[in-house]
Amino acid sequence: MTTPSPVIPDQMRYVSTTTAGAPDVMQMTTGPIPAFGNNDVLIKVEFAGVNRPDVAQRSGNYAPPPGASPIMGLEVSGTIVVVGAAVPQWRAGDAVCALTPGGGYAEYCAAPAAHCLPIPQGLSMLEAAGVPENFFTVWVNTFDTCKLKAGESFLVHGGSSGIGLTAIQLAKAFGATVFTTVGNDEKAAFCKSIGADHVFNYKTQEWANEIFAITQKKGVNVILDMVGGSYIERNLRSLALEGRYCFIAFLEGGKAEIDFRPLMMKRQTITGSTLRARPDAQKAAIAVSLKEKVWPLLEAKKVKPVIFKTFALAEIVEAHKLMESSAHIGKIMLKVAP
Ligand SMILES: NC(=O)c1ccc[n+]([C@@H]2O[C@H](COP(=O)([O-])OP(=O)(O)OC[C@H]3O[C@@H](n4cnc5c(N)ncnc54)[C@H](OP(=O)(O)O)[C@@H]3O)[C@@H](O)[C@H]2O)c1
Repeated sequence: MTTPSPVIPDQMRYVSTTTAGAPDVMQMTTGPIPAFGNNDVLIKVEFAGVNRPDVAQRSGNYAPPPGASPIMGLEVSGTIVVVGAAVPQWRAGDAVCALTPGGGYAEYCAAPAAHCLPIPQGLSMLEAAGVPENFFTVWVNTFDTCKLKAGESFLVHGGSSGIGLTAIQLAKAFGATVFTTVGNDEKAAFCKSIGADHVFNYKTQEWANEIFAITQKKGVNVILDMVGGSYIERNLRSLALEGRYCFIAFLEGGKAEIDFRPLMMKRQTITGSTLRARPDAQKAAIAVSLKEKVWPLLEAKKVKPVIFKTFALAEIVEAHKLMESSAHIGKIMLKVAP
């Protein structure tokens, strides 16, 4: 029996921006279904994740890489409706979640077939859409690049963010002791409940001094930092001998005055990356690692995406306002399918 080809309309609803700026530059628009290549699939989107990089893109501070969709949205879940000519591993009708090069805030989204993963068993389509951007980012920076190992200690800032909650859970699942910072006590309690060993409210506690004391002056082995700014000097002070320090964002800015001599004496490494700009082959390799090492953890409920609130696609302005308020704990999601 053959599955009938789904009827794909010519036009779709998506979120467009009139210009760079505040959330209300976004609006619902109708336009053509995205083009896709031989190695891509076309997905009928059910849910999409909202990520802080979308806020940066909307504000005019994070342009899409060359060739990527100008539409915002870096992750989706949905059903494949067409596969490119060179895609052997997927069929129309397969349910997937996907890391997208952009274009997720739309009813149809094209993504490289190798950046799609099956919906983890036991996860809803909503939850699955909240996995790709955070899990790809945390995995590649924390485990591939910084080589966090069981028995080591790990500090992630922004513990209540989508990235932070993913990092806490994965680091714990792979046997690390986890330190994190948050901006209020409710976020601190949640991070503890999800597995963080030591949580500091950066508004009331001097976290670098606390880490120094708890680790008996040794510091932590790996730091995943989205803050930068005034945290850079304190992070380096909190980093152990042969420690690895990775930047994934600079919410507080990219400048600091640093005495780098301890870095040399302690044989430390500083690195950083953005996921979106990585070549497709690197993202495909991350997808393979996630399927092998992390999908079993998701399916066993040892780690999970934390969904805070879901908006309809047409409520995108409210969704971005919530993200910019930083009142959320976990993922802000969009329901795209009617
Ligand atoms: N490099 C990459 O490949 C990559 C990929 C994805 C995301 N990222 C970055 O990772 C970060 C987290 O992303 P997300 O989508 O998970 O974000 P999110 O859920 O919006 O969380 C960001 C959180 O950071 C905390 N924060 C700490 N210091 C801050 C400051 N100075 N300004 C604003 N917020 C501050 C806020 O909570 P409290 O202040 O209350 O603690 C806020 O809720 C973002 O900066 C994003 O750009 C990087």
